[in-house]
Amino acid sequence: MATRAHSLTITGVEPQGSDAILLSLGGEVLHQSQFGFRPGQYLTLAAKVQDDEHWRCYSITSESGLGQPISVLVRRVAGGRVSNWLCDHARPGQQLRVFPPAGHFTLARPGQAVLLYAGGSGIAPVYALAREALAQGAARVRMFYANRDRATTMLLAELQALQAGASGRLEIEYWYDAEKGLPEPAALVEQVHGMESGDAYLCGPEPFMRAVNSALDTAGFDSRRIHQEDFSAAVDGSEGVPDCGGPEAMLTVQMKGKAHNVPVQSGELLLAAMLRAGLPAPHACRVGECASCMCRLQAGEVQRLESSVLDADDVADGWLLACRSRAASPEVQIRFS
Ligand code: FES
Repeated sequence: MATRAHSLTITGVEPQGSDAILLSLGGEVLHQSQFGFRPGQYLTLAAKVQDDEHWRCYSITSESGLGQPISVLVRRVAGGRVSNWLCDHARPGQQLRVFPPAGHFTLARPGQAVLLYAGGSGIAPVYALAREALAQGAARVRMFYANRDRATTMLLAELQALQAGASGRLEIEYWYDAEKGLPEPAALVEQVHGMESGDAYLCGPEPFMRAVNSALDTAGFDSRRIHQEDFSAAVDGSEGVPDCGGPEAMLTVQMKGKAHNVPVQSGELLLAAMLRAGLPAPHACRVGECASCMCRLQAGEVQRLESSVLDADDVADGWLLACRSRAASPEVQIRFS
């Protein structure tokens, strides 16, 4: 059920644009099958910042191949303890604890045409998907890649090399907010032209995702073929997960023989609500990888976000991860065993 953390060694730290690094990791454990991955997945790693271990997820940009070093893109974010610590302090030879690759942001129909939208460091999984789509024989791959400015653009040389070897199958439109403002709806809608039968993949900050979703809707793109990565969990290592508008709820927590009532804000993760209320709920990684916060649903309904820890049988048995669940009914009861 739960995965275990392993040690990997930093083998490379390469600047990417003016505020990001490409972090390469190696080690014997990469030969184990659990470290195989599909393009678009992410790695969860820990950094010790001021004696506290913090876990964050970063999308993998390297090609898959057992035993090969794994590279992830790490970008500075305002208040991002782990991302900023890695950008400032990561050096070859250091060890990092990591969980095996996970995630479902992978090609749904390999070989089909794909329409890709990346905002900022959302380029990491989108780049991996573009390379995989081309390798799988996609006739057309179109990418819209937005950045603040030219200086902060990441994976530029990699994209240029990919395009040079794609025999005209890869189109990329670069957008710089500093020059044109935020991506205009018309520019986002325009991307859909001629790609209506393909699959769309989106990754970027929440306002970017909202704008792209709105553009796809305007263009009449089939919503069943839209795939999106939860940017905050898998890419930038920010502290929260966007509010998805779930109801406000009262959470009753059974823990060590006592019941505690915890108000949950709209869209708030259950673990966050408990910690905010001062309840010492068990937890470690906070990103759905370590199973420390597993508990059982006793009453009410929850929305479970993606995690690699629980399988369908666990969910059917009522298990949930408090760090990856939101209230989906006005009253929810959970129990820690
Ligand atoms: S799975 Fe690690 S804290 Fe929730």
